[in-house]
Amino acid sequence: MYFGVDYHPEHWVYPYDGTPEAPESRWERDVELMVQAGVNVVRMGEFAWGCYEPAEGKYDFGWMRRVMDLFTKAEIKVVLGTPTASPPVWLAKKHPEILPIDARGLRRHEGTRRAYCMNSNVYWDYCQRIVRELAGALGNHPQLIAWQIDNGLGGHDTEASFNEEARRDWHAWLKAKYETIDRLNELMGTRFWSQGVTDWDQAPMPMAAPTVHNPALLIDWMRFCSDTIVAFARMQRDVLRELTPNLPVTQNLRALTRLFDHFDMAEVMDFVSVDSNATIKTKSAELACEIDMMRSLKKTNIRMPDGDCGFWVIEQKAGNVNWQEVNSLLRPQVVRLFTYQLVSRGACGVLYFLWRQPRIGSEKFYGGVLTHTGRGDNRVYQEIKEIGQELKQLGRVLKGTRIAAESCILTSHDNDWNLKFVNQPNKYFNQREHVQLFYNALHDRNIPVDFARPTEDLSKYKLVIAPSLQLLAGGEADLLKLYVQNGGTLVATFNTGLVDEHHIAPDTGFPHDLTDLFGLEVLEFDPLPPGEENHLTIKGAFAATHLHPAKLWCDAIEPKGCQVLASYAKDFYAGRPAMTMNSFGQGKAIYIGTMSHQFFYYDLIVWLRQMCNLFPLLKVPDTVEVSMREKENTRIYFLLNHQNSPVRISFFKPMHDFLTGKTFTGNYDLPPHGVLVLDEQTAQA
Ligand code: GLA
Repeated sequence: MYFGVDYHPEHWVYPYDGTPEAPESRWERDVELMVQAGVNVVRMGEFAWGCYEPAEGKYDFGWMRRVMDLFTKAEIKVVLGTPTASPPVWLAKKHPEILPIDARGLRRHEGTRRAYCMNSNVYWDYCQRIVRELAGALGNHPQLIAWQIDNGLGGHDTEASFNEEARRDWHAWLKAKYETIDRLNELMGTRFWSQGVTDWDQAPMPMAAPTVHNPALLIDWMRFCSDTIVAFARMQRDVLRELTPNLPVTQNLRALTRLFDHFDMAEVMDFVSVDSNATIKTKSAELACEIDMMRSLKKTNIRMPDGDCGFWVIEQKAGNVNWQEVNSLLRPQVVRLFTYQLVSRGACGVLYFLWRQPRIGSEKFYGGVLTHTGRGDNRVYQEIKEIGQELKQLGRVLKGTRIAAESCILTSHDNDWNLKFVNQPNKYFNQREHVQLFYNALHDRNIPVDFARPTEDLSKYKLVIAPSLQLLAGGEADLLKLYVQNGGTLVATFNTGLVDEHHIAPDTGFPHDLTDLFGLEVLEFDPLPPGEENHLTIKGAFAATHLHPAKLWCDAIEPKGCQVLASYAKDFYAGRPAMTMNSFGQGKAIYIGTMSHQFFYYDLIVWLRQMCNLFPLLKVPDTVEVSMREKENTRIYFLLNHQNSPVRISFFKPMHDFLTGKTFTGNYDLPPHGVLVLDEQTAQA
């Protein structure tokens, strides 16, 4: 198990620390403090281009080698970032054409970070050069165990740029996709508003315009930008693979907030790493959902430094951030709790951002493991030290364990991007919230869940949930049918299959290509404003603990062979089906034509759990989060109390807790923010 920090040694030289005689002397103290905290890995160098190459062609990697040598003695491993997220100022001055142009045609200037156009040939050349020099100088250092590519790709709204080179690549991309202008015009529906083009050069980039661009063009633009970012990362990966084939490559991703296809990106990487703001969010199930999304990005071909099979959290915030209106301190034990949440969901490396609060730059009031004083007598350092000791023991047990899920929620980037376009049927619909309703119901019942794209092999899942795939490609629809045909249980919802992959609405009825699977047709849909509700009349197939409202969206469904599970209670579509089930091949296809409150989804999952033979990991009070990592003959359960008060758990058999070494029986009060790590033999609570 890797446990570490994000370290910026370039911040800690004279005059910020050290002495004129020994400007780098602070580094030794840092290493000592890290060793005492149980740190065994650091990530460094992700913004160090200006220090590596202060003037063009004048390289200096010696300082980083000296830091890495100090880590050799301390047996601390190193991950180096390629420094391409912060091109030096001299480069932007010499080649201003690398600076990105925004949708209004304005240049975004140098002097911060991420100011580059990913379609710039000049920038690609400079990146290849610095990555080659870096790998040549430090790639054989014995402490180096992995590379991180760039930093925060797509962050600060840098997914797209509108430079002339972006236009050139965009046209080439369109040409490769459509082959002929006629085909482009036909599939993009450019007859609308005289948008037809007669030459590739005429195809617009979606720059600021009087009104909305053609959504078919927009979705292609998003795909093109995503392909561009992934190609930029692949270019660096290829250089690194050539020079240091044994070192795996990763990248720090965020929970699907950035506009590129994270599954595609994960394919390019050897293993996934995540930036986690966990500690500043309040809802633990939302965090759990995001962790599961990130864990699910790469399910096969994982190559990690120690041969493990999960993901890393390469930036776990050690304290407060600096961009909220009020950046309060984290309460004691909270960092520990969220560290365990990450570990419990498959993390096999956790590094805290950042080692010490910087004295310079724009992030000086970010929480750090050390404060500005660097003394190591602060509260957070002491807490991290305790976590480090605990994880040292746990690491051995956790090695090679995985999360095994039999249920799955589908997600596709094309669809997510499309749902963000303006002119939606209901602008109050929020896909992330919709997904969370299903996720909460599984999570709160301790049923593990994966995320997957609709094109993945779904056959291993007993239950697949497909919330609002408004943009659904023909091939995706076919794969959903195949899954059900072969015995799977699929749950889909309103706002599904309104357009195909070309953003063309079907003339065969909604949901596009799936009316036979669900045995119904959605004749029309009625988006409701917030606060307005219809009600569901449940037809008895599953038990309802509450009156369930129908909110935000009501599909008026014409049944065509399906069983009706619930209908609407009022309005002109009163009595029409709101929820249905259809047998298709050997499986079942369930359709929910509306959105409801959380209790509905709890009831739904209780019913589906029985139907699909899904078992909760453990039975504990609802407020305790449970997850499990397993490998042959070993099952490790994590119980997390996210409350500010103790929670009573009743154990009917003696149980062994790895953290305290104690065995519990009978009632046990899990303290506020407390954690238990239990093994299989004794975990029958
Ligand atoms: C990202 C970056 C870090 C830092 C934090 C601040 O995680 O990778 O360099 O800027 O954001 O939130």
